[in-house]
Amino acid sequence: MALPEPSDESTALVTGASSGIGEQLARGLADRGHGLTLVARGMERLDRLAAELSKKHKVRVDAISADLADGASRDELAAEVERRGREVEVLVNCAGYGIYSSFLDSGREKEVHQLRLLVEAVVDLTARYLPGMVERGRGAVINLSSTAGIQPLPYNAGYSAAKAYVDFLSEALHTELRGTGVTVTSVMPGPVRTGFQEASGAEYFAERMPGMTIKPAERVAADALRAVERGRRATIPGGAFVKMAFGPNRFAPRGLQLAVGKRLAAPPDGEE
Ligand SMILES: NC(=O)c1ccc[n+]([C@@H]2O[C@H](COP(=O)([O-])OP(=O)(O)OC[C@H]3O[C@@H](n4cnc5c(N)ncnc54)[C@H](OP(=O)(O)O)[C@@H]3O)[C@@H](O)[C@H]2O)c1
Repeated sequence: MALPEPSDESTALVTGASSGIGEQLARGLADRGHGLTLVARGMERLDRLAAELSKKHKVRVDAISADLADGASRDELAAEVERRGREVEVLVNCAGYGIYSSFLDSGREKEVHQLRLLVEAVVDLTARYLPGMVERGRGAVINLSSTAGIQPLPYNAGYSAAKAYVDFLSEALHTELRGTGVTVTSVMPGPVRTGFQEASGAEYFAERMPGMTIKPAERVAADALRAVERGRRATIPGGAFVKMAFGPNRFAPRGLQLAVGKRLAAPPDGEE
């Protein structure tokens, strides 16, 4: 079992837990008896979920507000987790959104902000909590990459590059950590209807995807946790059709990947 057994001191820290995939992963972990540390910026939904899960599953649930794109806020989060005496034995790096526009249009500030949240925060939290897991000989890191990270995507360039980074980091760490009792799993969902489309201006992109590749967050989270329990290095959750639709992109020539990606991700006329 690559997901560690819950204990009184242990917590599963889930970022982006107030919505979508993160919320469903939090639900799945609580269902397995894990105490939780739920993290996002907005407290209202976190507090509601914390109250519901602690009552339903009789587990301890902390809700902590943090802006993970901000280094000082991450320091405060880590200090608060320590102050509460929790040992992070499961880390779920799920908070995220994506920029869907040309790089020139999005501009420096937005691109750097996206990078800080999708890459810097993942590296920071993983580097904070991995040493303790290895020392204790048990732990799991679950990193949300994406099928967008399989190939470069014009008009979604920074996002696809960030998700490729998360996937490469996770798969390489998984291999480095073999034999330590700690696993790192790259979860690569295809399209999932969540708050992501509105937060990212990505509704048009989801509409261009074949309907059968769009899976609910509940299914994606359930498949992801099963893959973690099996000690998998990487997984495309959502079933055989999603795997077949996106997995082979790995082997396509780069020119073809870019041409298809450009057609799929180019903003509708007038929005470029
Ligand atoms: N939905 C998809 O189609 C899809 C596909 C592949 C991969 N993914 C990846 O899956 C992950 C979860 O996405 P989702 O679909 O569940 O999106 P979602 O429903 O929009 O949830 C995003 C979560 O991240 C939190 N968040 C956003 N910015 C944050 C910040 N600066 N600091 C802390 N928390 C922040 C949000 O809460 P607050 O706004 O309150 O902070 C929310 O809890 C993302 O990494 C995404 O890239 C999504």
